[in-house]
Amino acid sequence: MSIIDDDDVSNTSDNEHFRDILDACLSRRHLLTGSLATAVAVSLGGIEGLFKVVPVSAQETAEDAADTEERTEGRGRRRPVLGFEAIPVSSTDEVVVPKGYTAEVLIAWGDPVSTGPAFRQDASNTADEQASQWGMHNDGVAYFPISGSRRGLIVQNNEYTDDGLLFPDGVNNWTQEKTKKSLNAHGVSIIEVAKRSGFSFDVQHRRGKWGVVRPSRFARRITGMTPIEMGGPAAGDPLLATSEDPTGKRVLGTLNNCAMGYTPWGTYLACEENFNGYFRKNGMQTNLEKRYGVTATGSGYLWHTTDKRFRVDEEPNEPNRFGWVVEIDPFRPHSTPVKRTALGRLKHEGAWVQEARNGKVVVYMGDDERNEYIYRYVSNLPWKQAREQGINPLDDGILYVAKFHSNGTGEWLPLTTDNPRLASWSLNQILINTRGAADAAGATMMDRPEWIDTFPKDLTAIATLTNNNRRGTSPPSVNNPDGSTTGGSSRPPVDAVNPRPTNNYGHIIRWRYSQDWTESTFSWDIFALCGDPANSAHGSTILGDKYGSPDGIYVDPSGLLWIQTDVSTSTINAGAYAGFGNNMMLAADPETKETRRFLVGPSQCEITGVFMTPDRRSMFVGIQHPGERPDDQPGDPSNPKQFSSWPDGPSGGRPRSALIVITKDDGGRIGS
Ligand code: FEO
Ligand code: CA
Ligand code: CA
Repeated sequence: MSIIDDDDVSNTSDNEHFRDILDACLSRRHLLTGSLATAVAVSLGGIEGLFKVVPVSAQETAEDAADTEERTEGRGRRRPVLGFEAIPVSSTDEVVVPKGYTAEVLIAWGDPVSTGPAFRQDASNTADEQASQWGMHNDGVAYFPISGSRRGLIVQNNEYTDDGLLFPDGVNNWTQEKTKKSLNAHGVSIIEVAKRSGFSFDVQHRRGKWGVVRPSRFARRITGMTPIEMGGPAAGDPLLATSEDPTGKRVLGTLNNCAMGYTPWGTYLACEENFNGYFRKNGMQTNLEKRYGVTATGSGYLWHTTDKRFRVDEEPNEPNRFGWVVEIDPFRPHSTPVKRTALGRLKHEGAWVQEARNGKVVVYMGDDERNEYIYRYVSNLPWKQAREQGINPLDDGILYVAKFHSNGTGEWLPLTTDNPRLASWSLNQILINTRGAADAAGATMMDRPEWIDTFPKDLTAIATLTNNNRRGTSPPSVNNPDGSTTGGSSRPPVDAVNPRPTNNYGHIIRWRYSQDWTESTFSWDIFALCGDPANSAHGSTILGDKYGSPDGIYVDPSGLLWIQTDVSTSTINAGAYAGFGNNMMLAADPETKETRRFLVGPSQCEITGVFMTPDRRSMFVGIQHPGERPDDQPGDPSNPKQFSSWPDGPSGGRPRSALIVITKDDGGRIGS
């Protein structure tokens, strides 16, 4: 019997036995992935197939054919079920879910990822302790099955820190130790989780309770200090060399990882977003620094005061080593993550991978800043063929940027030296100054591209455009084709795909192909203009419950669309968002567009990160920055619970970002 079957009945309480099987599988997999010669010699479908490591999203929908909870339409095609009772808006300091569902905290900032020191509620854990604890402000997340829907690895980004809450005395009396702790609270956290049944008759563990497995050989922290390799064409470019690393091939750390992706070969992709905010440049900015927003003030972090890496006047190339997509193998806890330069350098929101019908991989990526672009990468070879040849499919491919036409069609503009508009650019210049290359190519400026996901059977992608208040001025300014524009300075007019002059509420767009994901043209439409559909002034086209600032998006294995919101803490339930309550998550039927509110988070939080187990009976959701100050300043260490005390309540010392798990009380599928 395979250990990977979703509904098998092997006794997972026998940990020793399970470990033996697991270790055997892992050592065989290590042989495969650890040695190129072995990888070439052995069929990839064979040994790797023994150990199911790929997360499940809408990319795999063949399972559950006999599912009686779902209705069928047409020739047996299943439609997703939107069966729960919608909840109203909420402004309470708690997680609210529909009747019949339970949400529990699985792990929170500062909890040990394996054996390790416990969180101290006064935030007095040291920098070294933080390096073995769950990072702060968790974001994109994925579940990698070990034993189907009962045991697996969770990988989650830790996007940023609130240094006011990270220490007992906040940002006062800044030291090298504080820089180190802040760096160690960034990055990526990996934990092993298991669902244990409370009932002997519940052989399929449908009513089990999730917990973190401690100790775990897989548990890991990747931080702002972890050695990471540069991979792909730009690795070793002189623009990536620093005094600490003259090779330009070995970087310390990954920062500001927002959304994520995963590959068909079982790795996780963490995406570096607002990396610029950690750096300070006092001298005259270069064009490259201007285009990416490397400034004298940064976003307020004090790392530069103790670590010269973040003083750009002294280490001019260090910022160029951030803004990449980082590939991590969660099943090899000692492996070195790799920044994949072929995917370009931008403020990467996410990197959603879709396998094309021709076997190539397509990666969709948003650059989340006002009037930035949507990108696509296509591997040159089918991914299995590339790996058989010892080529990482993310190192060898073509990067494109999207141009949306007003007639409902669009095209992918290649960012290559063959593009006549980029004739004077080298490939490495394109990959390191991807924004400038996209300016020169003539891409369409978008209203802050956030997450992207796909409906595989429909050859359709869907993307959130969270909001934009810098559009529609006259005369319009555009970015200079030489890439010298200051980041965020453009004020383009509205266009068909970004139709609102002041887009407070954001919108969601889709694009579709006719034959395969690798086609160079597509058709597009707007899925929803967000806002309150009951208020005509909002111009919302939502069919159902109101929401705004869509950010996280997830197509679950049944095809249901989940939407998470990130209303800025300065406007939660205020101004244009009065009456919207706290940030939330909704589910939408992609065909009828019916939308129901499923979850509302605690005070001042953002909801970001969502992933299901393959059986859809457990859903992991990220609650980020509860209690964040509305004035965007660091938290007040003398009054840390001013805005929230979630999740620890009165006994806790400060609010904490956390990963929650949602189950249905009757053991059923989430959303049904
Ligand atoms: Fe980190 Fe674009 O949200
Ligand atoms: Ca986001
Ligand atoms: Ca956001």
